[in-house]
Amino acid sequence: MSNMHEKIEKNVGLMAVLIAVVVAIGGLAEIVPLMYQAEAIQPSPGVKPYPALQLAGRDVYLREGCYNCHSQMIRTLRFETERYGHYSEAGESVYDHPFQWGSKRTGPDLARVGGKYSDDWHRVHLNNPRDVVPESNMPAFSWLTKAKVDGAEIAAHMKGLQRIGVPYTDGEIADAAADVAGKTEQDAVVAYLQGLGKAAASKGN
Ligand code: HEC
Repeated sequence: MSNMHEKIEKNVGLMAVLIAVVVAIGGLAEIVPLMYQAEAIQPSPGVKPYPALQLAGRDVYLREGCYNCHSQMIRTLRFETERYGHYSEAGESVYDHPFQWGSKRTGPDLARVGGKYSDDWHRVHLNNPRDVVPESNMPAFSWLTKAKVDGAEIAAHMKGLQRIGVPYTDGEIADAAADVAGKTEQDAVVAYLQGLGKAAASKGN
């Protein structure tokens, strides 16, 4: 007895090609509409490029690999929206290059952590998480108080982002070095954390 199905099952090459076709159709059905959806490519109301100090903090966040333990994408699951607030939307991260959505959730999601704690709490927590959360297994990042933010580097970074479409004005770039003058990397990370989710505060956060 030989039918189409049997033929495919016995021919690994044909099977692989057909699987690729099916997966490609599924992928296109998900990806193509997103490319034309305004809300996926336009910034959500209130979302602006990161101010210089927050951008510097974001650079430290990437360098230190905070994303290895923290996602910044609240999923549309009830236990997440109840814990963290409104689920994340694409329009909130249009100025993120690269985005920090992530999927590794060793620690809490940080998409809307801005304003949840005081600046002082974050400082103590970054210096030694166990001082405020005794059971924490987050590493200490105490050296961030010792390193100063490099103004020229941040201005250059903003210029690069401007080139790929982030709407920084030339004035903002010119002021960047003065905005971060004398600030430590810890100041920058705290500013970044306190800004997370604030732009989309209207989203029930
Ligand atoms: C090895 C994993 C790990 C890394 C790396 C890590 N964290 Fe955490 N983080 C955690 C865990 C676990 C918690 C929950 C316990 C706590 O609050 O300390 C946490 C909590 C936090 C919180 C409090 C969130 C809340 O809603 O209570 C903030 C803010 C935070 N981390 C920021 C950072 C930053 C910034 C970095 C990088 C400089 C970083 N984390 C790196 C594991 C990590």
